[in-house]
Amino acid sequence: MKRIYLDYAATTPTDPEVAKTMLPYLTEIFGNPSSNHSFGLEAREAIEEARGKIAASIGARSSEIVFTGGGTEADNLALKGIALSKKSRGNHIITTSIEHPAVIETCKYLKKLGFNITYLPVDSYGLVDPDDLKKAITDKTILVTIMHANNESGTIEPIADITRITKEAGVFFHTDAVQTVGHIPVDVKALGVDLLSISAHKIYGPKGIGALYVKRGVEITPMLHGGGQEKKRRSGTENTASIVGFAKAIELATQDITKEAMRITSLRNRLTTGILERIDDTRLNGHPLSRLPNNINISIDYIEGEAVMLNLDLEGICVSTGSACSSSDHGPSHVLLAMGLPPEQVYGSLRITLGKWTTEADVDHTLDVLDSIVTKLRIMSPLVAKGANKG
Ligand SMILES: Cc1ncc(COP(=O)(O)O)c(C=O)c1O
Repeated sequence: MKRIYLDYAATTPTDPEVAKTMLPYLTEIFGNPSSNHSFGLEAREAIEEARGKIAASIGARSSEIVFTGGGTEADNLALKGIALSKKSRGNHIITTSIEHPAVIETCKYLKKLGFNITYLPVDSYGLVDPDDLKKAITDKTILVTIMHANNESGTIEPIADITRITKEAGVFFHTDAVQTVGHIPVDVKALGVDLLSISAHKIYGPKGIGALYVKRGVEITPMLHGGGQEKKRRSGTENTASIVGFAKAIELATQDITKEAMRITSLRNRLTTGILERIDDTRLNGHPLSRLPNNINISIDYIEGEAVMLNLDLEGICVSTGSACSSSDHGPSHVLLAMGLPPEQVYGSLRITLGKWTTEADVDHTLDVLDSIVTKLRIMSPLVAKGANKG
């Protein structure tokens, strides 16, 4: 049975070209980048070249890129780093109710340290209203953190409108761009952000490596203390091979970004339209237009997304019911709940995310299989009788 992977928002396979680029850095070019001999210098050079490529891809300077162990660490460093370094100015942080756990759990931790956290609501598409932010800012606010695009609903937030407000208020702004960098064009200056998180494994790079963009002049308290690497912002011997792979991945992802986004959008629209037209009582969650090119989040009435996911898996098709990163707790999606979906629609939701190797044949096959699974599950569902006759 051919397996079809449609969970690219959870993670992507490492591109073979990326893996090939990394290999020499695991074997021959193994020096410690802090060593002052030729082995160390060649590793250092590779890291600085990678830093330059990653910086250029988001319109930043090399010195503004801090390598981290992934998106979660980048989010932690941004939030704790600003909170601890600016606490003499104030103790108020503003975020949203739809953030990734890497931000929400960090906010909960900061609350224990004495920071006050405001969670902004979102509308039924998952969009934050910049006016709500304006009202929430006080003279104690030091940081606003709002994700660029949501990993579950796919909705892209109006970050440039939001940062006009934070700039005027003199408040630092961080965005979690883990789902956008490499998928849609991202430019830190056009967005007007002070800090921005990236992760390599969402863009066909290795897992466990990411970066935090920190605008020149913005000081953060480091989380890891030690040898003072990354200009004292993140100690620890650099992961040279992964850093080199990260740069290759970002280079590949950004070289044809608009063309690839258009290809994926057209496949996404084909599958979305197919589902909505062929399967009764389904609806698209998230914004129809301000949306990640590869994301489909649908609710299927009368049955559980979890059952659909498991049945699809038996047919070799891998999708998700929400965020893989938080799927250890099987509660309903906090994102869809925040968007005001009733619990039964939240439980009936499915996230399908397409990627570089998704074909039209994959999409058409998925639609056929999904249609027959939904029909089968609805025949057995006690909810069908209560809702409509879907026998
Ligand atoms: C929006 C968002 N932020 C942060 C992360 C965490 O990134 P990482 O897995 O690299 O720690 C993820 C991963 O799913 C994500 O989707």
